[in-house]
Amino acid sequence: MNPLLQRLQPYPFERLRALFAGVQPSSDFSPISLGIGEPKHATPEFIQTTLTSNLEGLAGYPATAGEPKLRQACAGWVQQRYGITLDPATQILPVNGTREALFALAQTVVDAGAHRDSGGPVIVCPNPFYQIYEGAAYLSGSTPYFVNSDPARNFAPDWSQVPDDVWARTQLVYVCSPGNPTGAVMPMDEWERLFALSDRHGFVIASDECYSEIYFRDEAPLGGLQAAVRLGRTDFRRLVLLTSLSKRSNVPGLRSGFVAGDAAILKQFLLYRTYHGSAMALPVQHASAAAWADEQHVIDNRELYRRKFAQVTPLLAEVMDVALPDAGFYLWAQVPPNVFGGSDTEFARALYAQYNVTVLPGSYLAREAHGLNPGAGRVRMALVAGVEECLEAAHRIRAFIHSQS
Ligand SMILES: Cc1ncc(COP(=O)(O)O)c(C=O)c1O
Repeated sequence: MNPLLQRLQPYPFERLRALFAGVQPSSDFSPISLGIGEPKHATPEFIQTTLTSNLEGLAGYPATAGEPKLRQACAGWVQQRYGITLDPATQILPVNGTREALFALAQTVVDAGAHRDSGGPVIVCPNPFYQIYEGAAYLSGSTPYFVNSDPARNFAPDWSQVPDDVWARTQLVYVCSPGNPTGAVMPMDEWERLFALSDRHGFVIASDECYSEIYFRDEAPLGGLQAAVRLGRTDFRRLVLLTSLSKRSNVPGLRSGFVAGDAAILKQFLLYRTYHGSAMALPVQHASAAAWADEQHVIDNRELYRRKFAQVTPLLAEVMDVALPDAGFYLWAQVPPNVFGGSDTEFARALYAQYNVTVLPGSYLAREAHGLNPGAGRVRMALVAGVEECLEAAHRIRAFIHSQS
């Protein structure tokens, strides 16, 4: 067996199951889960019908590079969203969701034999983070280096925490903007700092932007390619964007996204993917092209989240430290210090037991680094269900906190 598999950590939901083992939730309340970050709004009808009216595509093997029509649709979206013109043939690659692509990218760009004398290659990722980054690092033969998010700076990762000798071994940096779980969007000055570090140390930046279309203020989140162009980096050297239809179009089951940016990286990524066998089924390509080409359903979807967050956030902000995020569909709330001493796990377990509401302990989404676990004392609440259910959950959480303080 591949010994690197031993390094994979249990997924946060496995740890949650273990935390709740033996707990009998109160039968006075119906179950409400704010635990899993899976979109629950309805899938638009036109995406479903485009999928089912293209089933003849199942008769052939799809090309790993995807159909020109899909790449064109992806490029069209980048154009209208960011005002950037990409070459669909060389700067866009469809993927089966960003999860597999985030993982596979590390297998493509990392030279596992590098820096043998100084500890091997490093992949830098934010902390808290989407767990795939860590698994991708281990299985590529790298060591993850966690950069803690700083609550005092809107949860921005503090890149200055990374010592020069670690940067020297770094081959890939995962950026998650808008962030899961923090909802923070990386501002221009952070991009500038990271590009300068990439120029100095030669690492690739993978910008995971799969929450970019769910935002709460007038201006849409700044994207990595957009930041690059504004800084004159029009060749997107050592930069790729990863984006997805899952949250934008409420199709997590379609498994569809794309990677865009540096043509030299995408060429090697396509080579890797050909062997990995990760081509997108043709009916899915058709449905995806239709989804990328339509913006109205995205506007409508965003409006649903906006109304929901506008109602739920103030209710919770009266009892805990939580604010409207820049983007995404999570609230990243601090457990009040006078409730279970601020423990995120105790809070989650007792809330489940007494009110049948599931939230995810923040410490499960982060690792101990630089003397602390930056997720400890926080909980992630995914506001993915309907507004009534989310409001009911908020009222229960309020009652729970009042009963404890
Ligand atoms: C930060 C982040 N990146 C990537 C993904 C993967 O999304 P998908 O594979 O559906 O595109 C998720 C899913 O929850 C996520 O939270």
